[in-house]
Amino acid sequence: MSVSLQGVVAVVTGGARGMGAQHVRALVGAGATVIATDVLDADGAALVAEVGERAVYRHLDVTDDAAWRVLVAQVEEQFGPIGVLVNNAGIVTFGPIDVMTPDVWQRTIDVNLTGVWLGMHHVVPSMRRAGGGSIVNISSTAGLQGYANLGAYVASKWGVRGLTKTAALELGSSNIRVNSIHPGPIRTPMIAGLSDDLALAQPIPRVGEPEEVTALLMFLLQDATYSTGHEFVVDGGAVIGQVTPVGPADD
Ligand SMILES: NC(=O)c1ccc[n+]([C@@H]2O[C@H](COP(=O)([O-])OP(=O)(O)OC[C@H]3O[C@@H](n4cnc5c(N)ncnc54)[C@H](O)[C@@H]3O)[C@@H](O)[C@H]2O)c1
Repeated sequence: MSVSLQGVVAVVTGGARGMGAQHVRALVGAGATVIATDVLDADGAALVAEVGERAVYRHLDVTDDAAWRVLVAQVEEQFGPIGVLVNNAGIVTFGPIDVMTPDVWQRTIDVNLTGVWLGMHHVVPSMRRAGGGSIVNISSTAGLQGYANLGAYVASKWGVRGLTKTAALELGSSNIRVNSIHPGPIRTPMIAGLSDDLALAQPIPRVGEPEEVTALLMFLLQDATYSTGHEFVVDGGAVIGQVTPVGPADD
């Protein structure tokens, strides 16, 4: 039992580049009408030029309540009610708790957590008018465990995980499923400044590719018809532990 995305209206936030752009490509490939949103307008325009007329680009800062209201109204008028929402936009910020400034903390929470809440807040009424739908919120392995120097990011991604469960509880009887995806290190502009070595102690000792996250997204949207409120991890096994040799000390 799988769900067809043919003709379904899908909104992807942070869809201009990185994983979001790959999600847009796959959704178009599955026959959806895709609204790729972002604040990177040049990247967004280039993406829709590449994928063709089943995708349109709209500027949307996910922290902007009024802009969300306008976006949903315009999308619904032009294309019909929204059946898929991928809350993918995010930023990463670094700094120990005693060093990070309150501004950086707040900005991280605003984009990564409030942005997800605003997305669901505005899209859910449209999804109800569509007769149901599917929401996927992009969290992180940082929504499953702690990471030193990533306090704001970790807090935002744990928040996304909890919000996903609450939304699933509220929306299940309205035929709306809500799940979270938890990627490990994935090769996108977000981690371009970091060394690939960060993946070496994982069971699969390499950085992942955006396509590997998109595959899980498409499974959740098309095939996971009895799954809601859950975490789906795509991390090369990173959160199960580190591959470090343990044995008796040599004397
Ligand atoms: N790359 C990784 O290793 C990794 C790991 C785990 C989770 N994630 C998460 O995956 C998601 C996608 O990240 P990515 O790796 O593709 O990075 P990316 O930086 O390539 O993409 C993030 C996109 O979000 C957009 N964005 C940022 N702030 C925004 C705002 N206020 N409004 C609208 N759009 C905004 C950016 O412009 C960008 O296009 C993020 O939520 C990120 O936290 C990434």
